[in-house]
Amino acid sequence: MAYDQVNLLAAARAARANAYAPYSHFSVGAALLARDGRVFRGANVENASYGLSMCAERVAVFAAVAAGALAFEAIAVVGPDRTATMPCGACRQVLIEFGPTLAVITQADGVAETQSIATLLPAAFSPLTLEDAR
Ligand code: THU
Repeated sequence: MAYDQVNLLAAARAARANAYAPYSHFSVGAALLARDGRVFRGANVENASYGLSMCAERVAVFAAVAAGALAFEAIAVVGPDRTATMPCGACRQVLIEFGPTLAVITQADGVAETQSIATLLPAAFSPLTLEDAR
């Protein structure tokens, strides 16, 4: 494995401590490993205007892109311990923008599971779709 799953989950867990989730009380942390070795963290940030809330995964992706990273290996996502917190549909779409091989690492009761973003978002609309139409 090119990355340390345990460390990435630990980074996501640490990021979760900074979640701002006063409405849902559902805190999520994410840690996105770039191919250059950098790890970008994200936590969900909610808003009194509920629909403006942002998921941990997208916070991590946007921080990474803003810092110049565009190639990623894996993202770990950590929510409450008992059930795996899977990326929502919107986050899956944002994640697949940067390639179908990204490993999505989740955990439930301390047991980690990894699936590719392409598995989580089959038949995706992606940059390839646009290229094919050109
Ligand atoms: N949330 C995330 O941050 N990531 C996920 O994968 C699932 C949902 C957030 C959005 C909202 O702030 C709260 O969890 C409850 O939906």
